[in-house]
Amino acid sequence: EKGGWDSFMDKEIHEDPAAVSNTLLGRYDESGDLDLDEVHIDEDVFRQIDKIIVVACGTASYTGLVAKYAIEHWVRIPVEVELAHEFRYRDPILTPRTLVVAISQSGETMDTLMALRHAREQGSRVLAICNTQGSTIPRESDAVLYTHAGPEVAVASTKAFLAQIVAAYLLGLYLAQVKGTMYRDEIHQTIDNLKDMPAKIQKVLDSQADVINQTAQRMSKARSFLFLGRHVGYPVALEGALKLKEIAYIFTEGFAAGELKHGPIALVEPGEPVVVIVPSARGRNVLHDKVISAIEEVKARGAFTIVVAEEGDPDADRYADVVFWRPPCPTLLSPLVDVVPLQLFALDMARLKGLDVDKPRNLAKSVTVE
Ligand code: F6R
Repeated sequence: EKGGWDSFMDKEIHEDPAAVSNTLLGRYDESGDLDLDEVHIDEDVFRQIDKIIVVACGTASYTGLVAKYAIEHWVRIPVEVELAHEFRYRDPILTPRTLVVAISQSGETMDTLMALRHAREQGSRVLAICNTQGSTIPRESDAVLYTHAGPEVAVASTKAFLAQIVAAYLLGLYLAQVKGTMYRDEIHQTIDNLKDMPAKIQKVLDSQADVINQTAQRMSKARSFLFLGRHVGYPVALEGALKLKEIAYIFTEGFAAGELKHGPIALVEPGEPVVVIVPSARGRNVLHDKVISAIEEVKARGAFTIVVAEEGDPDADRYADVVFWRPPCPTLLSPLVDVVPLQLFALDMARLKGLDVDKPRNLAKSVTVE
């Protein structure tokens, strides 16, 4: 059932492109307009939504962080992202105009379920983004947008993360469509750009496997890793750090690159591996230059830098010890390609240590206790 792969995680990473294309499928009509009839919430209700709160745990919460950048930009309403287990134990501000988005691969995470129950009791609407048909979270929500990643067996979430980003983006574009906060052309262009992503993800899988594997071999004795990113690269850094710690049992920490000088740089000593997600250099991107200077700062202190960068970025080549290249794409879509080499890297590191990548110690695929 692993279809020739030696682990489910390996198989599922290679299903990243299909997870994206299948989640897009059937969600727009021939004209390119979003069609989310399946969601069963009235357009009028969507039009009234003035705030989104994402509740989720782990990898699914990083989807929320990515989506915040896109949805606030497209829809001009605030998007809060809260770990489901923290949400319920404060007194969150929920109104009938708040849309709570519960993101869960399994649909059974107890913390997320309790958070959505609380939101509904307070009169807010809940939309689930979920990968498991008929599971508890979608059943208890007002509406559901399924991710069509296919069953995810490996404990570490991979393809579901990409599918969740696509689903959250479809929701954002749909809200922009009903609220009129984007031009139709812009929405159609974004859908077209999303449709281009599976081939770009495939290119990363095909072209970067060797350099990733060689890097893992070089790093096999490393005891800790830092991950840095900015803007949508920040949640990608968090996700890369989580993957490596959960399956290779290596101490990792993800940071927003701008935080470096507010503390984390103290951890950098000669030989320390630092993984950096570099934004595109196109269009004189200020963020790109800032992330490049973060690389220079850690390098000046002896760090070994592993960088995920857009093809043709001359600065990445100049300042990084190793580069994992990904094809050009719009910034907001870049997490869909940037996370892929980090998934493969975690897999290779765990394999080199002889670990069972599908069943990391102490972890369960769905966490059904609080
Ligand atoms: C990380 C991972 C976990 C899950 C989290 C939420 O690889 O798998 O962090 O993302 O337990 O699970 P779901 O999405 O099933 O609610």
